[in-house]
Amino acid sequence: MLAQVETPGLVRHEVGFDAGATTTCTAARFGAARVPPTVSERRRTTGALRPMPNNVNLEPDDLLELSATTIGHYDNSAQSFWQGTKDHDVTQNRSALLRHIEHSETDPPFQILDLGCGPGRDLIAFRDAGHEPTGVDGAANFCAMAREVSGCPILHQNMLALDLPAEYFDGVFANAVLFHVPTQELPRVLGNLHASLKPGGVLFASNPRGDDREGWNGDRYGAYHSYERWTHLVTAAGFEELEHYYRPPGKPREEQPWLATVYRRI
Ligand SMILES: C[S@@+](CC[C@H](N)C(=O)[O-])C[C@H]1O[C@@H](n2cnc3c(N)ncnc32)[C@H](O)[C@@H]1O
Repeated sequence: MLAQVETPGLVRHEVGFDAGATTTCTAARFGAARVPPTVSERRRTTGALRPMPNNVNLEPDDLLELSATTIGHYDNSAQSFWQGTKDHDVTQNRSALLRHIEHSETDPPFQILDLGCGPGRDLIAFRDAGHEPTGVDGAANFCAMAREVSGCPILHQNMLALDLPAEYFDGVFANAVLFHVPTQELPRVLGNLHASLKPGGVLFASNPRGDDREGWNGDRYGAYHSYERWTHLVTAAGFEELEHYYRPPGKPREEQPWLATVYRRI
């Protein structure tokens, strides 16, 4: 079973989340006080998921802190994350990206950006398939591990401040990562990815789905989009949908917490 899920802890969380794990105080507090509490205060709120669109503007310091805390989680658990996820089978996701790049009649090898590459599992697979992947991750430990295991170029960057070459990549593979972007920042980050893709380039994104709430899951910040909201956000950034599916394959929908989506840059 573990071989079929992207990140076991998140899947467990997401199942509970879909089942109705709600919180009451965060959104209400924001509305009443009009002075948003700091991120640290929000994190002390148990299960602080709030509805979207939210009535809170995250300030630059908030964004720095929430991304640093989330990245810190991965940095601190880098070895156990690698052991727990290196054998996860996400062939279906990599194939979906490659298939749609091939349909655009681009010649291989493909330039692929593995956004939030983690310790490098998918970089190795893309490399072994004859392509030229580049990894980017905010966790320094993952960057070092990904460099070591894949030999690929790895950029140590925060997704909230990407600095990527323009119109360079044939595809972006964002497996279990874009949900860490607060919704208010997603149009900008999707715009960065759009600009880094060649015209007609393909964006793959798999995320734990939800009912359009976001907030803290332990020490990781996440936004849990419905298919409708997610598609609205991505198409507004200049993409058209190619396909979507739910994972793991072959399960009833309520046992498929992951929404996999593929888009083409218009
Ligand atoms: C759930 S893991 C997925 C890793 C890998 N894509 C996989 O499928 O196994 C999320 C990844 O996003 C990275 N990440 C989270 N927030 C980030 C941020 N703000 N900037 C850059 N990377 C971030 C983490 O370091 C981690 O590698």
